[in-house]
Amino acid sequence: MTSFMLSSTASIHAASFPKHFKWCVATSAHQIEGHNIHSDWWEFEQRPGAIRDGHPSGAAADHWNRLEQDTELLAALNVQQYRFSIEWAKIEPRPGEWNVEALEHYRREIELLTERGIEPLITLQHFTLPKWVADRGGFEWSGMPQAFARYSEWVFSRIGGGVRDWITINEPQVVLAAGYIEGVHPPLKKDLKSVDLPALGMIRAHALAYHRLHELARSRGQEIRVGMAHHLRVYEPASKWNPLDRFAARLLDDLGNWSMVDALESGVLRIRIPFTLNVEHHVPEARNTQDFLGVNYYSRDLIRLDLSSPGFLKRLVRKSSPRNDLGWEIHPEGLYKVLRAVNRRIPNRPILITENGTADHRDAFRSQFLVDHLKWLLRAIEDGIPVENYCHWSFLDNYEWSEGFEPRFGLYEVNYSTQERTLRNSGRIFSEIARSSMLPDLKR
Ligand code: FCB
Repeated sequence: MTSFMLSSTASIHAASFPKHFKWCVATSAHQIEGHNIHSDWWEFEQRPGAIRDGHPSGAAADHWNRLEQDTELLAALNVQQYRFSIEWAKIEPRPGEWNVEALEHYRREIELLTERGIEPLITLQHFTLPKWVADRGGFEWSGMPQAFARYSEWVFSRIGGGVRDWITINEPQVVLAAGYIEGVHPPLKKDLKSVDLPALGMIRAHALAYHRLHELARSRGQEIRVGMAHHLRVYEPASKWNPLDRFAARLLDDLGNWSMVDALESGVLRIRIPFTLNVEHHVPEARNTQDFLGVNYYSRDLIRLDLSSPGFLKRLVRKSSPRNDLGWEIHPEGLYKVLRAVNRRIPNRPILITENGTADHRDAFRSQFLVDHLKWLLRAIEDGIPVENYCHWSFLDNYEWSEGFEPRFGLYEVNYSTQERTLRNSGRIFSEIARSSMLPDLKR
């Protein structure tokens, strides 16, 4: 196994990160806490064949019962910020029934972090919904925006006093693609022709929560920022000489990367898919509702127009490129590409890197992945792109949705039989970077 070590003569890159740059790690509640029994995902996981390795999330990484010790492990990574999510299904397991103990749990979590000087970055909805919301139609339910805003306000008004940054919805693009087009996540729909409906539901839910949280914060004299975490990929034509491939890559870029981002700027959702869907919905309350842009970056897809593939598009990985355990291309420069694209589209808006990481069960290439991505991030910062932080996905191994427990994204390894946590070598390197704000040279 190849592992990367910090060389003893560690030549540190002359350029270091800005003084107030924040180092962060990220998780989501369902993937680590365990026993999220009132959620749509809990039900979905019990179905035979739903999860690739056959395991439902169960106790996950048992984080619910390990708050104190996990916060110590977080602090050992030298982070100044921690991104985590609050689980709506635990807070409001039935309509209007508020679980005060669950709320108290998250209050304690915020307190533990704050005591250690770690700033919480909170996500209000990360893929899962309470089952009662999903049963009513999830994001397509007309009552969804009200229900989501009410939950967000309830949380904010009780435990949000010391929290500045809020992410309403994680990766709307992935929820739409996996849940409504490919049909591999709840609610298991395959309906490209009406994908605008759940998209609209997300935009309305976000906008209502955005305004309510700001009103509440204003009335308390608290300064907050609200945004979304967007999944942004690099889409490039499989052959750049082929106009059809170029057209297809552009289409996916518009649709997958920008339709949601743009809707939250302009208040207009535009979806144009030739022969399939051509809509323009006006949601004026959604205009200018991103105080920051959350960027989750993982990989690049090469796109080929292919009439025999579903949706007429084929996603390919360049043959010569390295891949992670899930087959995703490792393309560090892509982080720079998406950051430039964001800043060109929405100049000077604060950018938070809300996720970046890789599945590497042997910890063979994660350190190199980290340093290579950070080099490109540094370049973006040197270009003047206003990136404030870097959240590595993930703090510790966790439940990777329909892929199950096999993919290992953690800086800490989790032994799921004992729930023991072990810092990986890449975790050591991350903690050193977070301490010094400088990049090491890695020697094989
Ligand atoms: C992102 C998700 C996150 C995790 C990583 C690997 O799309 O937001 O929950 O699954 O991928």
